[in-house]
Amino acid sequence: MFRNLLMLTLAATALQSQAIVAKAQSKAKKKVSVEKVTNPSASDSVFFYSPGERNGMHLALKKANGQWETIGQLFSSDYGRWGSEKRMFTPFVTALPTGGYAAVFTVNNIAPCFAVAYSDDLVTWRPQDYPEMSEQGCFAPVIRCDGNGRYTVLFVNKDGNYRQTVTTDGFRHFSKDVPATKEAYDAVAVQRVSVALADKSFEGTRFAIDAQTEQRARTYFDHLNKVNKEYKETLKDDASRFARLGNKVEATVTIDGSQSKAISDKMIGIFFEDISYAADGGLYAEMVQNRDFEYLPSDRKGWTSSTAWRLSSGGKVTISADHPLSANNPHYAILSTDTLYNEGWDGFAVKKGASYDFSFYVQNIGGAKKNFEVALIADGRKLASAKIKTKGKAGQWNQYTATLVATDGANNAQLAIIPAKKAAVGVDMISLFPQDTFKGHKNGLRKDLAQTLADLKPKFVRFPGGCMSHGDGLDNIYHWNHTVGPLQDRKPDRNSWSYHQTRGLGFFEYFQFCEDIGAEPLPVLAAGVPCQNSSNNSHGFGGQQGGIPMKDMPAYIQELCDLIEWANGDPATNKWAKMRADAGHPAPFNLKYIGIGNEDIISTVFEDRFLMIAKALKERYPNIQLCGTVGPFHYPSSDYIEGWKFANEHTNVIDMVDEHYYESVGWFLHNQHYYDNYDRKAPNVYLGEWAAKVGKGGLDCALAEAMHLCNIERNGDVVEMTSYAPLLSKNGHSNWSPDMIYFSNTQIEKTPSYETQRLFSTLHGDRYIDVKVAMADSLAANRVAASVVKDSKTGKTYLRLVNILPQTLDATLSLKGVNLTSQSLSFEGFSGKPGDRSVKIEKGAYPVLQDAALKVSLPPYSLRVIEL
Ligand code: AHR
Repeated sequence: MFRNLLMLTLAATALQSQAIVAKAQSKAKKKVSVEKVTNPSASDSVFFYSPGERNGMHLALKKANGQWETIGQLFSSDYGRWGSEKRMFTPFVTALPTGGYAAVFTVNNIAPCFAVAYSDDLVTWRPQDYPEMSEQGCFAPVIRCDGNGRYTVLFVNKDGNYRQTVTTDGFRHFSKDVPATKEAYDAVAVQRVSVALADKSFEGTRFAIDAQTEQRARTYFDHLNKVNKEYKETLKDDASRFARLGNKVEATVTIDGSQSKAISDKMIGIFFEDISYAADGGLYAEMVQNRDFEYLPSDRKGWTSSTAWRLSSGGKVTISADHPLSANNPHYAILSTDTLYNEGWDGFAVKKGASYDFSFYVQNIGGAKKNFEVALIADGRKLASAKIKTKGKAGQWNQYTATLVATDGANNAQLAIIPAKKAAVGVDMISLFPQDTFKGHKNGLRKDLAQTLADLKPKFVRFPGGCMSHGDGLDNIYHWNHTVGPLQDRKPDRNSWSYHQTRGLGFFEYFQFCEDIGAEPLPVLAAGVPCQNSSNNSHGFGGQQGGIPMKDMPAYIQELCDLIEWANGDPATNKWAKMRADAGHPAPFNLKYIGIGNEDIISTVFEDRFLMIAKALKERYPNIQLCGTVGPFHYPSSDYIEGWKFANEHTNVIDMVDEHYYESVGWFLHNQHYYDNYDRKAPNVYLGEWAAKVGKGGLDCALAEAMHLCNIERNGDVVEMTSYAPLLSKNGHSNWSPDMIYFSNTQIEKTPSYETQRLFSTLHGDRYIDVKVAMADSLAANRVAASVVKDSKTGKTYLRLVNILPQTLDATLSLKGVNLTSQSLSFEGFSGKPGDRSVKIEKGAYPVLQDAALKVSLPPYSLRVIEL
């Protein structure tokens, strides 16, 4: 309730904010009297302004004729939640006498901070920081250069009082704010001017830059405009684009076995995030929805403790929190005479002949014994049922179990808890699992889905997310230790994808799954900061400005150390390791990797906390490989640039960094050399989230991804790991598109992207062998990719060929230092038409003819993995 009220207040505040900011601006303006300039002075050559609060910082350059030319957006506000926030008011940019440029702006009317960004080259800007000031509202900030690398930011607070704060470390950290004078503020604010661009006037700052900087800015934007056009290339108009080539194109593929290098043997893993009902209602085999009665409106508007439950009478389910089963699961239902039904996850899919484990906790409130029948019912038919007798003293919680054997099947069944006598009882943790889970584990995983993942033979599993790991705000950061131990004591939480996590699928289950499928566990946990797109908290702070307070960081770091002890420690000496042993796994899990941070904004708040964590972990666990993060996007995004800079400055604690990008097919077609020039001495790359993004995916994406994987394998000495994202999406509950696997309760759809991942992952290698493709037509050549890898354990060598052309590709293979031992080359792959949503796996063999050129032919739009 409180949260709702808060949301309403914030929503109302957001509506008013524009007006309030405008008022404060005009207050500031009145005092600073903005200079109106339509014809800039001869020396001014650059103007920074924002054409609208959601449009970010723009750049205009002065042309030779003295008119301003709008160039484009430099960056946009990264403050707060997508949609409702990310706003920029009163931007102010200044050229620093020490070199570089600094920008400040107001983010909204309630935040006790302004935004600050910095650039060395005027075109790429460091991720924003939001230095915390003493009061809410930091309006119309301006920058004064004090000399010797000292800068003062002056602003107006919500009461119209002038304040100032000082930075001496290049706009990273700021002093506590103190009062300033109107005169001091006005002396700088006079630089804020109004300039007419086309028909409209904008407020901003202008000054002179040298010709070289101006040229660099023009070149940078010309390049961006050019590549952005290229990235729009799709396969739709291929027929006309490649018409001149006829039906077939030829290529010579030269493979040189004498030129090879070691590459990662962990190249392909999976990224598991509880998004789109991937965990509860998905991989986690629990069939009862809201089994703990802990759904809340904060999980999703309208959800309550009784969501997914109903009574036979149509009455309201009575919910109590008086004598909870566990402090972490305060709510339970009170049953009397009515039958209690659960709707499951889109119904219970019951298989004829299958056995199901039912369990629940019952509290005999008045001491009276109570008997139950539990049943699975569909369209009035009882598919399975069992009787349960309760015992125990009044007020005591006891667990009862029963096996339900289905004599018939249905996909729309409901679970019924049918009380036999009238007596009030509390019921909680009502659970139903198929006995046939993956590897037969209790509290296990849905067998078909888990097997679909296992079939990818992933070398590692990243969990528990994405955004869900660092959470929506401080109180939503994922704490691994809330997810282990008895189910009723685990701490459920709001899922930042707008639903509920029971944490039944917790760290024990993740680690167990990794072990079951022979994959390395890669837990990725928050770097002490929540998602930068978090909503505002009650102090008006949004996103990572809400980093864990420094005083609480030691406890958070201990929590991460506890994870390593829990996974690898000795149960005889460590309580966390004992917990693992008590859960049924005395042997260590042998954790080797940990990720800290998820595509965070590389702000000071992040960097300070990340370093504290990384140093502490490396000091205590030097053998654990630590993966950092370089933001949510590729070059030239500010977080990527700053993240890599930061990683390179801290190679003593960062072994690998996590890159993320979801991109158009065109981007992949035009970035085939993306990793070729990466610094081999820098930390390795974990491409932790990536996918080609077109609608719900399909052949176009899968082929672009295959092409990218060829290019990644060529750089497999620097790209150590990759994982497509997101992995799972339940039909009707999708938060994202495209995904690798779509599923319902009964069906699994493996997308073409799944097949790409499977082919590269299962037919893999740990050495890369040099391969070159020669084609007459350079446009067509950009649509063909190849990679050759050898598995030194099995001795098998695989050639991958990707043909993203509407023509058949006839390739002549020229082999040097590769001996063919077989009469034919077997292959596996797929082909189709642009827009296809599914593919059939094609298998076959190419003949190896004596005294004849070795030829392989690929159908239009195809991937072939050929065993040499
Ligand atoms: O994969 C879906 C989301 O994409 C992840 O949660 C997040 O890390 C990224 O933005």
